[in-house]
Amino acid sequence: MRRVITYGTFDLLHYGHINLLKRAKSLGDYLIVALSTDEFNWQEKHKKCYFSYEQRKSLLEAIRYVDLVIPEESWEQKRSDVHEYHIDTFVIGDDWKGRFDFLKEEGADVVYLSRTPEISTTQIKENLGHRNET
Ligand code: CTP
Repeated sequence: MRRVITYGTFDLLHYGHINLLKRAKSLGDYLIVALSTDEFNWQEKHKKCYFSYEQRKSLLEAIRYVDLVIPEESWEQKRSDVHEYHIDTFVIGDDWKGRFDFLKEEGADVVYLSRTPEISTTQIKENLGHRNET
């Protein structure tokens, strides 16, 4: 069984996320999503989520492509996750291209998938903000 892992915040889940998860799952048989905790988002990514970790986790668990959701609590955990979860393939959107090539040293394939154009959590928040102003 080929095991795939991806990382992200997945706030205000949108079709760009679904598209990423679908393609990630197609690279193997079992897909793990390491979901950024609220603390990690705030302290390291300087992002405040609309949905809590538990809400984002529930949404991801309802998606047919996702087999397991684990917390992402640090930048460093990727190396140990590859071993702990017996990962064959690490995958993430190409906004991170080249950033995680070091995982090849741990024996994982590293794949960057093209982002779906013209959609992001940031954009949704901005658009809704503008809509509320008018
Ligand atoms: N992603 C994607 N296409 C998009 C948006 C996101 O493929 N249009 C991918 C990202 O590359 C990443 C995963 O989905 O692998 C989770 O991304 P995340 O940062 O949570 O979503 P964004 O919409 O990019 O959020 P933000 O605007 O806060 O950066």
